[in-house]
Amino acid sequence: MSAEISVLQKTRSAYQPKLPKALRAKNIKVELGAPTQPVADKDQIQKLFPKTCGQPVATIVEGKGNLSTQPLNVGVVLSGGQAPGGHNVIAGLFDSLKTANPGSRLFGFLKGPGGVIKGKYKELTAEVIDRHRNTGGFDMIMSGRDKIEKPEELAACKQNFESMKLDALVIIGGDDSNTNAAVLAEYLLAQNCKTVIIGVPKTIDGDMKNEQIEASFGFDTASKTYSELIGNICRDSMSAVKYWHFVRLMGRAASHVTLECALQTHPNVCLISEEIQAKGTTLAEIVDYILDIVLKRAAAGKNYGIVVVPEGLPEFISDIKRMIDELSAVLGKEEEYIRNLPDHSERVQYLNNRLTAPSAKVYGSLPADIQEVLLHRDSHGNVPLSQVETERLLIDLVSDKIRLLKAQGKSDAKFTSLSHFFGYEGRCAMPSNFDADYCYSLGYGATQLVRAGLTGYTVNVRNLTKGSDEWTAGGTPVTMMLNMEVRKGKAVPVIKKALVDLEGKPFQHFCRNREQWAVNDDFVFPGPIQYFGPPDIADAPTVTLKLEKG
Ligand code: FBP
Repeated sequence: MSAEISVLQKTRSAYQPKLPKALRAKNIKVELGAPTQPVADKDQIQKLFPKTCGQPVATIVEGKGNLSTQPLNVGVVLSGGQAPGGHNVIAGLFDSLKTANPGSRLFGFLKGPGGVIKGKYKELTAEVIDRHRNTGGFDMIMSGRDKIEKPEELAACKQNFESMKLDALVIIGGDDSNTNAAVLAEYLLAQNCKTVIIGVPKTIDGDMKNEQIEASFGFDTASKTYSELIGNICRDSMSAVKYWHFVRLMGRAASHVTLECALQTHPNVCLISEEIQAKGTTLAEIVDYILDIVLKRAAAGKNYGIVVVPEGLPEFISDIKRMIDELSAVLGKEEEYIRNLPDHSERVQYLNNRLTAPSAKVYGSLPADIQEVLLHRDSHGNVPLSQVETERLLIDLVSDKIRLLKAQGKSDAKFTSLSHFFGYEGRCAMPSNFDADYCYSLGYGATQLVRAGLTGYTVNVRNLTKGSDEWTAGGTPVTMMLNMEVRKGKAVPVIKKALVDLEGKPFQHFCRNREQWAVNDDFVFPGPIQYFGPPDIADAPTVTLKLEKG
């Protein structure tokens, strides 16, 4: 790492994240509520998690304590995609462990869950922690997408924990990684291993939320970063008056990021995958919808505008989704064989015979680069959608239609387009005050759950639209959030993803306004994240959270 740091980073390193009252208290205890049950598929989950299914919700409150004051050895791992604030979770963990007992030690497993399996770690000292306070990125210990699932991997983890005399492992990750936390917790209990497992809700996608978890960390900073860029493009577009900008935004499945950015900037077109799925909209219908707005604006003399689309879109378009599901089932059985076929055309030809006729037709109609990306799955069975250039596909399809209309003398619209993908640009941004405070509190809360000896829990911090003083903290049993889903053709337990709720206030607000935003230039320019200044600018949560919490 460079020895030189920016002036802002230097100033930010001195920022002391705000903690809720309950976590600041000298005496803290953990209270347990009534037993819980999974959101769905109760019997199957109960069978798979006999020791942890049904555990009660935990609340961290001020009071004379039932928490351990012994020195603890705690491990931490960052799992999956980067999200702003990860370093602050670790800083919160470190500070709270040392406050409870200065003899406690924190170990960072390197490069994600793979490091836990291989036993690769380093001790996180005050010097390491201080260098990373309030910074973006996961570079302190790096991340990875390995999954701990095979019996030999679980056994290797147990052996590593025992040789390190580890009291706890804190897994900072999204829905898949928190599911993994539950699997590991269950296994270790069954093996009489003392190490407890606590998860932390991370993902810029914002789709790990429910009654108990109000937001995943990183969503706030990432969507504010993208909104700044979109606002700048809106301003450029109405200045140059000659470009249509198609912007794809990260979010593997849910459209929360896209919806939040639309609420912050008011683009002319914004597609929400969940609505497209609910209506069974096809690709051709989506193209017609965009075309209609392009033509309306052209008729008003506006040959420019902004289209915002979510990364996860392909899996929500009815005909494409069917094809991807069929592909997943085929890959589940024959992935290696298909990968080893000599070239692209042989793979397409082979799949042509393995897919149903409609799906083979859809697959065959896609550009070769998209066809190839769709043949890959990560260790959790997900398609690497960040590599699918949906924005370019839509530009091509809209252009074709306009060309045809022009040739028929039916339109004189000018359509010059530019494509953008905002994803990696926002994942390592310097955390906003909200994420800096939220993450530090999550780390602090995780320590208290460890001290209470709980395992198979995700730490929660709630009441997030109030001032941080009034936030509350606790633990949600992971099994409470599980349901069964088909991945790579097999039913497996996973945390139920929170998609955009079409009845919810954020989407309803968008619906009421989108027609007006389509034709007018009602753009809003949020500007960059503010780290200093009045709380309504510097500490404000996302529009989504404000609308959801009324
Ligand atoms: P997580 O669910 O692990 O937080 O990852 C989120 C994400 O940023 C998605 O939005 C995106 O599709 C994916 O990671 C990209 O993955 P990769 O980092 O492997 O390119």
